Amino acid sequence: MKMFPVAAMLAALAVLPLPEAQAQTSAAEAQVNALENLFGKQAGFRRAHAKGLCASGYFVGNTVGRALSSASVFSGDRIPVIARFSVGGGNPGASDKGRSVRGLALQFSLPKGEQWLTANISAPVSFISKPQQFAPFMAARQLDPATGKPDPINLKLFSELNPETIRQAAYLAKAAVPASYGAANYWGVNAFEFINAKGASQFVRWQFVPEAGTLGLTDEQIQSLPHDFLGDELRTRVAKAPVVFDYKVQLAEAGDALTDPTQVWPDSRLVVPAGKLYIDRVEPAAGGACDKITFNPLVLPKGIKPSADPVLLARTPAYGISLARRLGEAAK
Ligand code: HEM
Repeated sequence: MKMFPVAAMLAALAVLPLPEAQAQTSAAEAQVNALENLFGKQAGFRRAHAKGLCASGYFVGNTVGRALSSASVFSGDRIPVIARFSVGGGNPGASDKGRSVRGLALQFSLPKGEQWLTANISAPVSFISKPQQFAPFMAARQLDPATGKPDPINLKLFSELNPETIRQAAYLAKAAVPASYGAANYWGVNAFEFINAKGASQFVRWQFVPEAGTLGLTDEQIQSLPHDFLGDELRTRVAKAPVVFDYKVQLAEAGDALTDPTQVWPDSRLVVPAGKLYIDRVEPAAGGACDKITFNPLVLPKGIKPSADPVLLARTPAYGISLARRLGEAAK
């Protein structure tokens, strides 16, 4: 179907006031261009998390969720969900055994036409603390054609000047490579504000915790498994029983970093379960409803507000540009 990329992009920007939206658009273009420079221009694919598959299911909120937020997602009714599982990076042919993040993006279809969109990763922290680091972070990883590796001096210099940008890689280097999309822990990373029916505010960070536990690849599996196994593994798993994630929220206390997604909050902060996500269907092949969705994390229901985290706010225009480019290409 022919789409109008500019209209799609503007729709994604509609949540920002105009001058701010314009400033963010040019920065966002530079960010999306930086992804294309690093991963190649992969026509028709997302410029980040290019490899993935679409699934669906439902969400059921609980009383804790209702106490924290008036959002209808916590009503306790079954809320239909479209989910996209992905491998981080802009290469649609990436190996499922790589040490990048895995993604879990969700679209909740709420009553009265409301929507909630969220895109989460299998690491508790972001790779940047400020949007200005995004393009240089990608550029520092540009492969030198002579060696097939990033220039070690560029990379070292960027990392030394921006030490917080290596926290995510340090986490991933120690974590096991997920053996299943359904057995990875996914974090929202950015902070959000929950507002309850009485108007009380609570800043939170959320995560989706697999009920069956996390499962990592063994060294033997890293040797023996093919590059592509996550899709079929999830299909087999879901054919037996729904994959269930506990939706948990971590409650911020005074002084916790609300605007820097490279900083975790202290372990002592309360983490409470606010609902459960059930994945009960996986698309048999690539494609599906997810293709036309960009999981813009600022599409929030009443009762959930964005924090002032600049990385969170910068995501919307970049997602809109990537959506516009890939749908424009797919339509040709
Ligand atoms: C300035 C910061 C960021 C920029 C510029 C950026 C850019 C992008 C772009 C261009 C896409 C593809 C969108 C599409 O074509 O639909 C994307 C997807 C995604 N991003 Fe980000 N991103 C940023 C921060 C983050 C953070 C902090 C997270 C951590 C939760 C994250 C998680 C994801 C996930 C999971 C997807 C895949 C969503 C899907 O399956 O469609 N991103 N990002």
